[in-house]
Amino acid sequence: MRTPLIAGNWKMHGSSAFVAEFAGRFTAQPRAPGVEVLLLPPAPYLQELAEALAGRGVAVGVQNVHDRPDGAFTGELSAEMARDIGATWTLVGHSERRLSCGETDEVVAAKLLAALRAHLQPILCVGETLAERDSGSAVAVVERQIASAAAACGAAMTRVTVAYEPVWAIGSGRTATPVQAQDMHAAIRVRLGRACGSAADAMRILYGGSVKPDNAATLLAEVDIDGALVGGASLQPDGFAAIVAAAADVAADPSSGDRN
Ligand code: PGA
Repeated sequence: MRTPLIAGNWKMHGSSAFVAEFAGRFTAQPRAPGVEVLLLPPAPYLQELAEALAGRGVAVGVQNVHDRPDGAFTGELSAEMARDIGATWTLVGHSERRLSCGETDEVVAAKLLAALRAHLQPILCVGETLAERDSGSAVAVVERQIASAAAACGAAMTRVTVAYEPVWAIGSGRTATPVQAQDMHAAIRVRLGRACGSAADAMRILYGGSVKPDNAATLLAEVDIDGALVGGASLQPDGFAAIVAAAADVAADPSSGDRN
């Protein structure tokens, strides 16, 4: 049984005042059972958010780490530092970093290793651009991204959570259909199986890209969609709580399919 994971990526949004407001409104909602919840605020707010949500069973993490533990890397944050301030998770290879910060598969692989070294749980983001989808190479692109990570991580690949985020669906309001997402998630699980054997059945594959309260349930009902990486909608505490509740409802529904 794969416990659903709902992760909120705040990107470069927020403030101390927002953390307090978010926590107040989020904790006023009932806590849905049977779902892991993770928030990824900008690093300066990680500790205040963790304190404000203490006792609610919400993990916190960072959106990016450097691949080295320390050194002369101005403006960077190491996985060890993130761990030291209370992060237990990190995103690695988000498409915004791949596209605007030039992160190649090699850089992403080095960061994955850094996260594992520091005992952070990495979420490896993969996904194709619209041009890649239109040219029919979406699966090949995503397989290449996973293969690069798997080659670097070896047996530790089983500790990686994958997030499939089609670039054309991020922040665009355009969501992959449940069938499009499920097809890619199934392909990812097959590729993970080549790297990790039967352990791939227990690995979580999240969907990301314009997940909202009104589309979360249908996406999460797909058999290989084990949670969501939520951007814009994670800044709305009521909406984010509604997505967590949708995941709990799907997980509790015996007709939602055999999830190993
Ligand atoms: P979005 O972002 O939900 O705003 O599309 C998702 C992400 O970038 O992780």
